[in-house]
Amino acid sequence: MPHEIDVPKLQEWLAQQKPVTVLDIRSPRDREQWWIPGSIHADVYESLKAGDASGLDTLALPRQQPVVTVCGSGRMSLKAAEALEARGLSARSLQGGMKAWSLARNTASRLFEGGEIIQVRRTGKGCLSYLVLSGGEAAVIDASLDPEVYLSLAQAGGTRIRYVLDTHIHADHLSRSRRLADSVSGAQLLLPKQDRVRFSHTPVIDGDKLQLGGTSIEVLSTPGHTGESVSYLIPNVGVFSGDTLFLNGVGRPDLHADGREAATRARMLFGSVSRLTALDTHLLLFPGHTSEPVPFDQEMLTASVGVVAGRLKDWLASEDEFVNRLLARLPPSPPNYALISQLNESGEWPDSDPTDLEAGANRCAIS
Ligand SMILES: [Fe+2]
Repeated sequence: MPHEIDVPKLQEWLAQQKPVTVLDIRSPRDREQWWIPGSIHADVYESLKAGDASGLDTLALPRQQPVVTVCGSGRMSLKAAEALEARGLSARSLQGGMKAWSLARNTASRLFEGGEIIQVRRTGKGCLSYLVLSGGEAAVIDASLDPEVYLSLAQAGGTRIRYVLDTHIHADHLSRSRRLADSVSGAQLLLPKQDRVRFSHTPVIDGDKLQLGGTSIEVLSTPGHTGESVSYLIPNVGVFSGDTLFLNGVGRPDLHADGREAATRARMLFGSVSRLTALDTHLLLFPGHTSEPVPFDQEMLTASVGVVAGRLKDWLASEDEFVNRLLARLPPSPPNYALISQLNESGEWPDSDPTDLEAGANRCAIS
């Protein structure tokens, strides 16, 4: 029986740049949805299922480093690892497959005068969350991973979490913010003001300022992706734009909205994106998502407001142009988004494995 490797171990190997061949055996269609950064591909899933492992024989795999085989849920990858072991390679199967990999993460960080920003990238899904550390205090923005991840990063930076913030009520992943705030005594859970959420929190509105160590966080109302969406600005440093503005696109305005509501929100989004792109061009933009798996390269996914504004110049030529472009490009809403939103509104945590619900690439961006 070949060995298995679990997600934390593979994540550690990749973070340490340990030589390893990650071999994805899923169909091209499945792989196209999401993949492990740096992995190679062999379209052998169906043949393995039919009991034929010969598709693996012709693969040129380096013999001096381990191979980790990957499929959707970790069953057929065991067969692939078995076949490779029979060829004398050191092979392991990724336990739980890509479903389990959904929780894999890596980080990048950047210092600023008076503090540090850590970008926590859920590379298995594309969600980006942040810690801002300053003067012994930390704020967490858009927590999408287990509270322990943020607690240990805050602690390693010599800080204590004071604020837990969401930019909006998420639809693509279960917010971990409530659970994180509950696990730190004295931490405040802050959400944009709205009437959707049914658990205790402190609402924030445009113009609110939060003192964090030696810096401050200012709330900018940026509705459109959702009615309540806000962005969080650290003066002279950058802006956390949630799903309002991405590095190369904007948020979709149609989640839980009919055609008329989506058009109204698209107009609101034009105002919000215009507001963000009119900020100081040197500020950095820290988005809430990326649409591709994040490499283990410690490179922060960010760009200056000036660069992003340049990329969106055609979009922002006029409000009508913006709205028409946006509405013409809307992909279908993933079916699980309605249930995720409901859970984020009620604050309930599902009894089942959250990755079942969160499966699939995020579909929050339009570019
Ligand atoms: Fe979103």
